[in-house]
Amino acid sequence: MNTPARGSLLGIEHLEAKEILGLLKLARRMNPLKTRPLLRGKRVVLLFYENSTRTRSSFEFAAKSLGAMTTLLQASSSSIEKGESVLDTGYTLRAVGADCIVMRHPSAGAPHLMAEHLDIPVINAGDGMHEHPSQALLDAYTILKHQKSFKGLHVTIIGDIFHSRVARSACHLLTKFGVTVTLCGPPEFVPEVAATLAPGLRITRHIEDALRGTDVIMLLRVQKERMAGHRIKLESYIARYQMTAARLKLAKRDALVMHPGPIIRGLELTADVADGTQSVIVDEVRNGVPMRMAILARALGKAK
Ligand code: CP
Repeated sequence: MNTPARGSLLGIEHLEAKEILGLLKLARRMNPLKTRPLLRGKRVVLLFYENSTRTRSSFEFAAKSLGAMTTLLQASSSSIEKGESVLDTGYTLRAVGADCIVMRHPSAGAPHLMAEHLDIPVINAGDGMHEHPSQALLDAYTILKHQKSFKGLHVTIIGDIFHSRVARSACHLLTKFGVTVTLCGPPEFVPEVAATLAPGLRITRHIEDALRGTDVIMLLRVQKERMAGHRIKLESYIARYQMTAARLKLAKRDALVMHPGPIIRGLELTADVADGTQSVIVDEVRNGVPMRMAILARALGKAK
């Protein structure tokens, strides 16, 4: 096994706070509306073994805004369907000229495996139930657009935390900066062991308790595709945990409502909350582009 190439982004857990701040600072200097040739001549492969709308499109726009070429490879339309392994796919992409691979895979650790065998940076665009580092970074970027700093901040994460790579990366990132993080949901979604994910996490089953005094509410999708063997009653989840306008009033008056998407209106939140003045859900998606421009610039050695 080799050390991943410089610039790889495989997770938040092992990133230092100063590296995170460096990426956030770089993202603030990126302008997706103004193409600049920072990555001209570079080839970025978007290798997606799972579906994606936001991550895939924003990495593609980010790469193109920096002048790079992109190729999309999806499992359903490539030789992956014929049984080619992850590593053989990686060697093939490197051989045809890839300079960087952005990879989403249903198995935790798949991007790490790729990174250990290739001499080019690999960016984890979501690996199973493990991490989704670019999402945590764009969420942090979004929070800091509305809050002066992480100091004294209270973030409440509600929903399917057990199956969520977004929650894992967010917990690692926020606790590195001393943010108070409360996890809220039923035991199927928030087992007690979730508290050991990062230092200082608090768990509550009561949404009213979770919301009181919070600055940021992060809602998560119920991931039916990862729930084999679980029998969660959605009616009961909605009754106890759905974010409604009435519940939102329990949080701070200017609390942000966030959701990594895709949102399911009528399940995790009501439509009036999704479209309300406190919702920054669309802004989160928008912020994915400058954040991923920064990630790609760092990956390809242009993070000056
Ligand atoms: N938040 C997120 O990862 O969305 P996609 O699955 O659409 O990329």
